[in-house]
Amino acid sequence: MDLFSSIDLEPSRQRIEELTRLIDKYNYEYYMNDTSLVSDFEFDALLRELIDLEHQYPELALPTSPTRRVGGTINKNFRQVTHRFPMLSLGNTYSIEEIEEFESRTRKLLGDTKFTYTCELKYDGVAIGLTYKHGVLTQAVTRGNGTVGDEITDNARTIPTIPLKLQGSYPDDFEARGEVVYPFDAFETMNKQREAEGDEPFANPRNAASGSLKLQDSRECAKRKLQFCMYFMMLPGDNSIQQLNNSTTQQYNTHFGRLEAAKQMGFKVQPYIKECADINEIKAFIDYWDKERWNLPFGIDGIVIKVNQVELWQQLGLTAKSPRWAIAYKFKAERVSTPLEDISFQVGRTGIVTPVANMAPVWLGGTTVRRATLNNADFIEKMDIREGDWLLIEKGGEIIPKVVGVDMEHRIANAKPVSYLAKCPECGTPLVRTEGEAGFYCPNVDGCPPQIIGRLEHFVARKAMNIDSLGSERLSMLYNKGLVRNVADLYYLRREQLIGLGVEEGASIQEKGAENILSAIRKSCEVPFERVLFALGIRYVGEVGAKKLARFFKNIDALMAATVEELAHVEDVGEKTAVTVFDYFVVPEHRQLVERLRAAGLQMQVHDTSVSSVLEGKTFVVSGIFSRFSREEIKTHIEQHGGKVSSSISSKTDYVLAGEKMGPEKLKKAEKLNVPIISEEDYLVMVGGK
Ligand code: IVH
Repeated sequence: MDLFSSIDLEPSRQRIEELTRLIDKYNYEYYMNDTSLVSDFEFDALLRELIDLEHQYPELALPTSPTRRVGGTINKNFRQVTHRFPMLSLGNTYSIEEIEEFESRTRKLLGDTKFTYTCELKYDGVAIGLTYKHGVLTQAVTRGNGTVGDEITDNARTIPTIPLKLQGSYPDDFEARGEVVYPFDAFETMNKQREAEGDEPFANPRNAASGSLKLQDSRECAKRKLQFCMYFMMLPGDNSIQQLNNSTTQQYNTHFGRLEAAKQMGFKVQPYIKECADINEIKAFIDYWDKERWNLPFGIDGIVIKVNQVELWQQLGLTAKSPRWAIAYKFKAERVSTPLEDISFQVGRTGIVTPVANMAPVWLGGTTVRRATLNNADFIEKMDIREGDWLLIEKGGEIIPKVVGVDMEHRIANAKPVSYLAKCPECGTPLVRTEGEAGFYCPNVDGCPPQIIGRLEHFVARKAMNIDSLGSERLSMLYNKGLVRNVADLYYLRREQLIGLGVEEGASIQEKGAENILSAIRKSCEVPFERVLFALGIRYVGEVGAKKLARFFKNIDALMAATVEELAHVEDVGEKTAVTVFDYFVVPEHRQLVERLRAAGLQMQVHDTSVSSVLEGKTFVVSGIFSRFSREEIKTHIEQHGGKVSSSISSKTDYVLAGEKMGPEKLKKAEKLNVPIISEEDYLVMVGGK
């Protein structure tokens, strides 16, 4: 029997090996050498074949299979791992004089010893350490605080420039350190997509890289186009010279040699590294990259200078937290000043007015800058921007230029403060400012065109109603033609109203197009209630808030009847949100809108996913860590058995369900209010489980 099954498996085993070899090769050429050896179509077909085979014969799947790059694992919490060797930081400076001092100090300390430096880029991303044992990636950990970091191995595997298995010869056990960066073009594409889908864009590529590595679903991480730039190889012998001399080959005796070796193993090592003999060569490297950095496809924020000879590292030693054998020179943010011409005002979906400075075009960090946000009224006041001023603008690691102040050299005597709008630039309604808010907004929610169009855009977004045949342009057309004034109107559109639309814009909708739009609109009636609620675009009600509100109140009628206090009790719904939700449903037009949407067939209640009703009428507060469930799972479990979950303990709480490490504040409050505290086991008994 055994014999038969092993004979049967052999062809599949061979094919799996062959596919793995091919895909690895194509990946390597594509990501390391920018060469496509096969078409995307062919590549996808090979990958598909491998995925299917591994699915069919899981026992044959190799641990280093390229299919693991596609992701698919879920990490609820990232395990905290102590670094085998602390990940030190670097002393850094903005001053060339201090680099000169570093160089002469090093020379003095090393006396007659011959040595060189390496100069390389200081990548602006997230530092990680990759452990390789016998040529296989076994662990990836973020730098964290340098001593302890998060284990992110599954996400790291999805990064194409991180080898899962090494080529050629390599040390049996070592750590590859480097920076995960988000290349500019991929960053921009991803951010645009996020905005289109109603998600908050990332502020800069570094935050995006960091956020991506912490994604719970590694499949999502695989979609982010992250890159790993290796900058350091740590061998276990590095901490003792004796071992180093015994166990390493010549090449591993210099930092430069190690990175060269790493390249041969299959790591992406940026070519911009130079061995330098003296301070002049170091300075030339710095000067070159200070200007050239804007032409790189990813962000850097300085230059790192290291003593090249590894054996000297021990001799030079460490200061409190950084090695004496390396230093970082940080680039100053590039700064220019340019005349402010005027300020324009943009009105967003929620009515928030954003002032934008229009400036005389100026060259900054590789692009011509004409406009920059002035954020809000507070910002303008704080900067004391006056008419005729020149603005100082900077471009740091970020791609977006920032206004950082006024260039007082150009200030004209008695210049008047710039005037802020009193009325909405779009609809003329007097602007208002709520206590504690930094800016003004237009309160004409239902009559101000950009607010209406913005709300329509939000409504059709993928994470909301997902009506993808209606993009911004078509929505604007529908609005401008008077066919759609609010989101409910979409459901009452007729075929003949759509056909021919856009003729003047040169993109007229034909019969087929009209049919597609109508069917996408019809299909959106199946979208679950929680997303309908999110789609309404009530201020402060994001995806999570909408989900929580929907699950708590179960249907729109209960939600519309809720008091502020009841709303605020829902988990993840704060006072501010509770008030805006309440205020939203007080407005008769909004109630009418809901009725028209209901009549059109949209989901206005949660679908029954209930398992039982044993917890009917009981409200729980959940705290701590559980053994059988994650916190989210136990909450869903409560709801599926008819109970409600609230975030804060009050007299209305029936039980506090406490896991390990329950918060001390919650404990105190539960005791004070005499709310019974039950364990996970008690809970399971309560719902009749095992
Ligand atoms: S070497 C002991 N090289 O800068 C030497 N670091 O404070 C360890 N970084 O968080 C670092 N590019 O992630 C080194 N080419 C480079 C680097 C680099 C970026 C980061 C590193 C660390 C920080 C140093």
